[in-house]
Amino acid sequence: VTRLPLHPAAPLPSGPDRFVSPGGRPGRPSVWVVGGTGYSGLEAVRLLRTHPAFRLARIFASPGSPERDLAEIDPGLAPGQARALPWSPALLEEGAERPDAALLALPDEASADLAPRLLAHGIRVVDLSSVFRPKSAGAASPPTPGNDQDPVYGLTEWEAARIASARLVANPGCYATACLLALLPLERAGLLDPGEAVVVDGKSGITGAGRRLEADYLFAEANENCRPYSPLAHRHLPEIRAVLGLAAERPLLFVPHVLPVSRGLMTTVYVRLARGVASGEIAAAFDHAYAAAPAVRLLGSGRWPQLRGVTGTGRCDIGWTADPVQRAAVVVSALDNLLKGAAGQAVQNLNLLFGRPREEGIPL
Ligand SMILES: NC(=O)c1ccc[n+]([C@@H]2O[C@H](COP(=O)([O-])OP(=O)(O)OC[C@H]3O[C@@H](n4cnc5c(N)ncnc54)[C@H](OP(=O)(O)O)[C@@H]3O)[C@@H](O)[C@H]2O)c1
Repeated sequence: VTRLPLHPAAPLPSGPDRFVSPGGRPGRPSVWVVGGTGYSGLEAVRLLRTHPAFRLARIFASPGSPERDLAEIDPGLAPGQARALPWSPALLEEGAERPDAALLALPDEASADLAPRLLAHGIRVVDLSSVFRPKSAGAASPPTPGNDQDPVYGLTEWEAARIASARLVANPGCYATACLLALLPLERAGLLDPGEAVVVDGKSGITGAGRRLEADYLFAEANENCRPYSPLAHRHLPEIRAVLGLAAERPLLFVPHVLPVSRGLMTTVYVRLARGVASGEIAAAFDHAYAAAPAVRLLGSGRWPQLRGVTGTGRCDIGWTADPVQRAAVVVSALDNLLKGAAGQAVQNLNLLFGRPREEGIPL
């Protein structure tokens, strides 16, 4: 089993106010958003348009798509504020003005194709797809674009030091973020019984599936409804298992559900504690992990996160309770799947890549 070297938040690097790009251009680092017409790409556009340290240089949609004013698909934007162009590989040719970084909010196949090309031109990449994320033992390894450009897992609060010097950041999945932020403090502190299953119940709003035309996602099918999907087989499972370092035979029972809300995601984690764990040790483990992490809000024992407390923010809220007689604990985490679960964490990672304060430009 591969255990990733994860570290709790390290002191933040303090960056220069003025940045000189590899091409020698002074000024704010320029960023492209590729996939800027999708749900998570649009959130990245919103964050980067007003970000004090970055210049949102270009926004792209799929090749062959019409040039679009983003106000047509995002009523939060005024007409003329942001335009999306069709993506074309020719944009990377000699003479074109290339950005310092690109945020990719694309389907897996498109990211697998595009990320290595961008890296080859010295462009730093934060990728939201699953292709460069860690995989559990037995699953295919993530592709490596070569040279020294191995992907770094972008779970910001646990990987800050490695992200700061990365070329390619594999942003975590939305469920993986909620689940790992809840479980890693307990697992790393040795508070979990290693012989017992980890059970996770997940719930996500409709945007978690991207903008797609499928009957299951029609209003009349999803409204006033709740349904499970991919029980025990969700595509974030290998990533969660790999990062936690769970042995292949240790049950990780994860069942996600679709909720009739546009955005927001909650995971409820049920674990068996190691013998002799006192409830104060649980609080101490969470405090140790997140004392210097403003994007994780610890509600404490017996206080529970709610979706409406986190939607529209780049935060993850966490609450828990423990029963010493049953040696059991329940941890609930909630986040906005499009922000801490996608674009918000991607911008936290961009901040780290360019030496900016980690939560700059993130609504908390
Ligand atoms: N939704 C979430 O909550 C969430 C959370 C975490 C991670 N993610 C991941 O983030 C990625 C994007 O997800 P999403 O939900 O935002 O998807 P989405 O709403 O379906 O948007 C996909 C975007 O990719 C563009 N696109 C498709 N094929 C392309 C290609 N070959 N070249 C360039 N652009 C292309 C689309 O452009 P057109 O508009 O022209 O089709 C659109 O802008 C996925 O990998 C997803 O797994 C999503």
